Amino acid sequence: MAVLVTGASSGIGYACAVRLAAAGREVLVHGRTPERAERAAGSVRGEVDGARVVPVHADLSSLAAVRALARTVGRLDGLVNNAGLFAGNDVEHERRVSADGHELHWAVNYLAPFVLTGLVDAPVVVNVVSGMRASLRWDDPGLVEGWDRVVAYGQSKLALTMFSVELAARAPHRSVFAVNPGYVDTRLVRESFGGAVNSADSGARWVAAPLLPGFTGTSGGFLDAGEWSAPPPLAADPGARARLWELTGTQLDSTVPG
Ligand SMILES: NC(=O)c1ccc[n+]([C@@H]2O[C@H](COP(=O)([O-])OP(=O)(O)OC[C@H]3O[C@@H](n4cnc5c(N)ncnc54)[C@H](OP(=O)(O)O)[C@@H]3O)[C@@H](O)[C@H]2O)c1
Repeated sequence: MAVLVTGASSGIGYACAVRLAAAGREVLVHGRTPERAERAAGSVRGEVDGARVVPVHADLSSLAAVRALARTVGRLDGLVNNAGLFAGNDVEHERRVSADGHELHWAVNYLAPFVLTGLVDAPVVVNVVSGMRASLRWDDPGLVEGWDRVVAYGQSKLALTMFSVELAARAPHRSVFAVNPGYVDTRLVRESFGGAVNSADSGARWVAAPLLPGFTGTSGGFLDAGEWSAPPPLAADPGARARLWELTGTQLDSTVPG
């Protein structure tokens, strides 16, 4: 069986795929398109002798594509929900929506991992979250009023963190971790903030850790830039997590995770 790493065409996801392949894991290298997935898989093979990598693709801004990806991958050892979007300086600072009509950060950073995790059989789940966490706009999660990219990104990552903790509680047969890789130098950071000192691989180290030998974390844990930390208040609040789960269910017509 294999580990699926989403967003492995770049940055932390690519570095995570290299780490896992180097440790002998079979890695499903996900890219947005077949070409990007093939290119990333080829690069991993170039870096790691004998790497076992399989390219898979899906545009995660489409829930139909997320479901198709889940059907493609079959049973897994692990799932790394890494792919993520932060509207950068190179694109218009304006609200965009997914193929399904959801605000784009909410769709790619939160709904896609929620649905993918629900559909694939993976005993270990790693959700890549962030230190940037806005609060949740319960009455307007799509940010129809007053869209702001920091709020859009921050609430999508907070929602993913809440999902991690809640899934761990609802699915005791799974080990689920929210991992903030820290502030590291990737395309996302370069395009938005100009760069960072630490390498993508330094963040990938924490993202890959739950899938490598010697890891001792407890399901539901929050690994914040290499330190086990209390989750943010809303993620620690069972009532808020249940409310988010219910809200998410009303936004989706798919099976919810378990
Ligand atoms: N870098 C940091 O300091 C930092 C800190 C905290 C959290 N994170 C999180 O780390 C994760 C990885 O980001 P990164 O920093 O490594 O940035 P990155 O190099 O820009 O990588 C982002 C990855 O997500 C993929 N992706 C984005 N939208 C997609 C879509 N609609 N469908 C399929 N794939 C899509 C990208 O694919 P393409 O190559 O096709 O665009 C790329 O592979 C993100 O979830 C990010 O929020 C990063």
